[in-house]
Amino acid sequence: MLHYAYGAVKKSIEAYVTRAGGHVIEVPLPFPLNSNDEIVTEFKKALDKGKANGRRVRLAVIDHITSMPCVVIPVKELVKICREEGVDQGFVDAAHSIGKSPKGVELHHPVVSHEYGNGLAIESAWIGTRDYSPQLVVSVISIL
Ligand SMILES: Cc1ncc(COP(=O)(O)O)c(C=O)c1O
Repeated sequence: MLHYAYGAVKKSIEAYVTRAGGHVIEVPLPFPLNSNDEIVTEFKKALDKGKANGRRVRLAVIDHITSMPCVVIPVKELVKICREEGVDQGFVDAAHSIGKSPKGVELHHPVVSHEYGNGLAIESAWIGTRDYSPQLVVSVISIL
């Protein structure tokens, strides 16, 4: 996970990974960054650390565009490195990416609801019925 990852995402990843018995490696990134090479170098170093002593890297969390600070990450290159290095799975935080997609490329978030076809802004404003039940579920209860 990049040092620049979104705070709430960082906390979620920490919580899930710790619960699963793993640990998180943060890719330290200097600021300001002068080139993509700096990102790639630090990313590769973190993968090496994760793979030390025969361990596996189960998940790479990569942002496309970070928000604090604002940096476009060379996500294609990092995903390619993950594939070459045998990382099990990748998760790309593309929260800011749709607006950045090159002209002519059609991107749509996965939520399709009432306003489909009426433009991204209005389509995103009403995403339909939300299911809050997962937040109300307690997986284990101990009764003393
Ligand atoms: C990079 C990034 N990821 C994730 C989020 C979280 O988005 P949300 O609060 O809509 O889930 C944000 C919010 O600004 C963000 O900047």
